[in-house]
Amino acid sequence: MKDKIKNISSLEELQELYTATFGKDGTMTAKLKQMAKLSNEERAIVNTENTQLRQLFKEKQSELENIALNSKLAGEYIDVTLDNEPENHGTLHPLTQTLKDLTGILESFGFTLMTGPEIEDDWHNFTALNTPEYHPARDMQDTFFLLNGNVMRTQTSAIQIRAMEQNGAPIKIFAIGPTYRKELDATHSAMFGQMEGLYIDKNITMSDLIGTLRALLSKFFEKEIEIRIRPSYFPFTEPSVEFDMKWGDKWLEICGAGMVHPNVLKNCNIDPNKYQGFAFGFGWDRMTMLKYGLDDLRAFYDSDIRWLKNSGF
Ligand code: DAH
Repeated sequence: MKDKIKNISSLEELQELYTATFGKDGTMTAKLKQMAKLSNEERAIVNTENTQLRQLFKEKQSELENIALNSKLAGEYIDVTLDNEPENHGTLHPLTQTLKDLTGILESFGFTLMTGPEIEDDWHNFTALNTPEYHPARDMQDTFFLLNGNVMRTQTSAIQIRAMEQNGAPIKIFAIGPTYRKELDATHSAMFGQMEGLYIDKNITMSDLIGTLRALLSKFFEKEIEIRIRPSYFPFTEPSVEFDMKWGDKWLEICGAGMVHPNVLKNCNIDPNKYQGFAFGFGWDRMTMLKYGLDDLRAFYDSDIRWLKNSGF
């Protein structure tokens, strides 16, 4: 009997033998029923046998259960070192990334974000910016006109006016958003992103402008950027300048700027004898192209997922 138990290799067989031994008609059950007729010595033998057999069954059961568990675990083994399907991570569009970066940088310089409408009236887009009707500088910008005389804003400079009208001086703001002009080629899109900065207070000078722009460009491109200034013309600044930055062995035109024209301050009810300051404006699509080494501006607006994936974002 003991050998029989030892040789069993499945839980089912063990169960069968257990029933045949300890069940209603089991061999051990029968022996136990006869106990009353047995002598003391004989009873002791049956009792010992009973205890030993139960013990053996118990041990065999846990042995077989262990084997079953181990084989189940082996069957469910997962190889965590296997390569997985590549995951598809979403990323920010490069222009969105630039927008966030520039916003973060200017906020860290103490500028406050201002917004304005994309459909602008003539006053904010041109006239208040010292560009009255028939001013030749209006030709610098190929404007989309609406039938009611409004325009698709051609420059975020319009937001300077709104900011000064609302808040007066001193003021230190920036604006960032889409602007529109009737032009389209590899480096121009009819809709493009512009950014504007404006800082008016009692003691603001040209050197504040230069320092701000150098720091802004260096932070954005994450390296020291060399800049140079050329005289330029914008109706809303006097003097007006253009910033170039050194890129490889070339100088690239990057930003228009200047000291805000007294007429502009007057148009916003700010006294130019008390306050002065600087303004600057640039296209951040182009800055994004430079930063990430992209060469066709139009791809930014095609929303082609293959391009987005391949451009390293
Ligand atoms: N609005 C100008 C443009 O679209 C850029 C610009 C030049 C903005 C000089 C300024 C500025 O604020 O002071 O070309």
